[in-house]
Amino acid sequence: MSIHSHPVPGTRFLRGPLLHCLAEPDKNTDATEYFNDALLHIKDGYIVACGDYQSLKQSYDDHQLAYLEHHPDKLMIPGFIDCHVHYPQTEMIAAHGTQLLDWLNTYTFPVEAQFADIEKSRDVAEVFLQELLRNGTTTALVFCTVHSESVEGFFQVAQARKLRMIAGKVLMDRHAPPEVLDTAETGYQQSQQLINKWHGVDRLQYAVTPRFAPTSSSEQLRLAGQLLADNPGVYLHTHLSENYDEIAWVKELFPAADSYLDVYDQAGLLGRRSVFAHGIHLCDDQCQRLADTDSAIAHCPTSNLFIGSGLFPLKKLQKHGINIGMGTDVGGGTSFSMLQTLSEAYKIQQLQQVNLSPEQAFYMATLGGAKALDLNDKIGNFAPGKEADFLLIDLHATPLLKFRNQFCKDWREALFVLQTLADDRVVAETNILGCPQG
Ligand code: GUN
Ligand code: ZN
Repeated sequence: MSIHSHPVPGTRFLRGPLLHCLAEPDKNTDATEYFNDALLHIKDGYIVACGDYQSLKQSYDDHQLAYLEHHPDKLMIPGFIDCHVHYPQTEMIAAHGTQLLDWLNTYTFPVEAQFADIEKSRDVAEVFLQELLRNGTTTALVFCTVHSESVEGFFQVAQARKLRMIAGKVLMDRHAPPEVLDTAETGYQQSQQLINKWHGVDRLQYAVTPRFAPTSSSEQLRLAGQLLADNPGVYLHTHLSENYDEIAWVKELFPAADSYLDVYDQAGLLGRRSVFAHGIHLCDDQCQRLADTDSAIAHCPTSNLFIGSGLFPLKKLQKHGINIGMGTDVGGGTSFSMLQTLSEAYKIQQLQQVNLSPEQAFYMATLGGAKALDLNDKIGNFAPGKEADFLLIDLHATPLLKFRNQFCKDWREALFVLQTLADDRVVAETNILGCPQG
């Protein structure tokens, strides 16, 4: 902003093309709003107004608009929302040759064992959050490790950057090496201490985070439910029905449960602030139960392809009315870019003869993700009163994008091209509470 910044601190007026969702596209034909020439007014980190430039400028005097930042060649969009990602796995992204259960034992647990060290946790959290911002992701629901230090380190770095983040200590008391295990009791106590210290501090919120049913005893899952009951507003974050061997193992470990989801249900883990990663192989009953409890699924296409988990049945879950957000699932996923994630989501639907529209994909990465996280009153679009986490996108950032974009007949085609061909190179500016991040 420097010498051109508005004389009233915290105030910005931006002009240029703008795209955001007002509602879910499949339910409402006017759900996606595009302005070829918009005016965006920000004050003290919040959206004041957003609309067509020629109409909205009438509300302001010339003096106010003298400091207008005009970006005719950039597209303003809301920041992306990553509904499932593991920050400690940043250093093991792109690990070769295994599927879920072997991948966890071979690569994941040895890496996560190092996060008992707060310095290590802070260092990796810095790299991770920098990478999120470079890719235009402004909010994420994040797995830490079993160690309280991993959560401390993450929240300290996120707080310093004023980010809206949700994270939690992993609960796992069996079927893994001792360096990454807690007990039902210590997991419960440490989680409660972290909730007391961090939940609701600035823009940070806590998620009770049992890794997945195979690494938690029934007692640990029961205590996770207790934490949710004792701390209203806290999230539940775990994995569900990702891989066939995992599902068979859950059946063996919990013979009395009706289904994988029922293991969590019996512990009281379903609800409006519960987010389950993957949900690829669910029967209708499980889908219906997720919908009835207002629980959300985080769809993680690059991970589902990379660790060979399966093809996400988007239409089936949508038919049941389940809230669905997008997740990168790094390090099982292979990209921090939500655009690359949407590109793979499209291809996964193609393999099932389903046509994922660019509006629907964009919705799931922005307002739909906010809804999945029960944060749609705060983030996800440019509605007045929301937090000003947004991006300036350069649609011409690569030679191919520049060439291809000349032939786009409308914003819808340009959006699809963006999702399919773009990555971090198009993110020209990431704004947190109205401020560009360096
Ligand atoms: N299931 C249990 N733990 C993990 C993990 O770290 N990543 C993924 N993708 N699935 C899991
Ligand atoms: Zn995961």
